[in-house]
Amino acid sequence: MPQIRFENVVKLFDGREVLSGVSFAVEKGEMLAIAGPSGTGKSVTLKHLVRLLTPTSGSVWLDDVEISSATGTELATIRNRFGYLFQGGALLGWLTVEENVALPLREHGGYDEDEISKRVTEALEAVDLSDAADLYPAEISGGMQKRAGLARAIVRRNDIILYDEPTSGLDPVTSTTINRLIRRLNKERGITSIVVTHDLQGALLFADRVLMLKNGRVAEVSKPEEFVRSSNPDVREFLDAQFITPDLLEKRL
Ligand SMILES: Nc1ncnc2c1ncn2[C@@H]1O[C@H](COP(=O)(O)OP(=O)(O)OP(=O)(O)O)[C@@H](O)[C@H]1O
Ligand SMILES: [Mg+2]
Repeated sequence: MPQIRFENVVKLFDGREVLSGVSFAVEKGEMLAIAGPSGTGKSVTLKHLVRLLTPTSGSVWLDDVEISSATGTELATIRNRFGYLFQGGALLGWLTVEENVALPLREHGGYDEDEISKRVTEALEAVDLSDAADLYPAEISGGMQKRAGLARAIVRRNDIILYDEPTSGLDPVTSTTINRLIRRLNKERGITSIVVTHDLQGALLFADRVLMLKNGRVAEVSKPEEFVRSSNPDVREFLDAQFITPDLLEKRL
């Protein structure tokens, strides 16, 4: 059974339909990229997994638990399974980088100071931010803020991590570094990874499968080799707009 399942999820906000029957599944240890135009419901989709939102109809599942109807401790347990890189990073301005990264450990509780320090150091090293540990968010660049958010998302070593636009606004070199890091965590630690991104090229080069969301529907979900050859007009338009051709995949690692 897949680890995560969306079953015909419809989501309305004030009568306006944003998701119009979204279904897909993610296997344990898989890296799924979700791409699609702005405002199409990508972030809304992710938020259903940690129940920041609930479906108007349909259901969302983690293993055999329906996330949308979980209550109390069951819900807390579900939320604890996920690491989350929020779109925009959302670092707290009055805390240093190091303190921001330590936050999920402190909020969750049960980690002693030595363990916190060890994990924060490890997470900062992973994103190459060790030198910025004592700086405040306002004192570092946008790309460094992204990486700090990434360190915070991985610090609890969750087995599922949701990344909402981890590379937007970054230069190409930093983007590739981050894509590599996400892929490495996915492969080496078997972390199930859902990556929302506008970077279709990165998605095709690093993910196991790519899902394209358009007008609140899954237009396509397939492996990169199939995705680049899709005859779906929405997918073609998206690929052509970014000048992507099948030979891109020769660069896959
Ligand atoms: N809490 C909310 N209340 C009302 N409308 C919302 C809410 N959250 C999202 N929306 C609307 O749902 C639509 C989809 O939003 P979403 O954030 O999922 O887009 P997106 O695909 O992530 O776009 P982008 O690529 O720009 O981040 C938008 O029209 C947005 O205004
Ligand atoms: Mg979004």
